Amino acid sequence: MYVCLCKGITDKAIKQHVAAGVETMRELKACTGVGSQCGQCTCQAGQILHNELVLQ
Ligand code: FES
Repeated sequence: MYVCLCKGITDKAIKQHVAAGVETMRELKACTGVGSQCGQCTCQAGQILHNELVLQ
């Protein structure tokens, strides 16, 4: 499922970045560009990030 249409980032891609050590939205944004254009995906991307960190 696409989370960020502007940058073409999927939930799977976010989960892979968390597995690789990303822990904050700032890091995720730096790695993927998620949320760096229109910003509409920021909330959902943050939720996925948070959920993955809780599951680790
Ligand atoms: Fe992610 Fe626009 S949908 S920045």
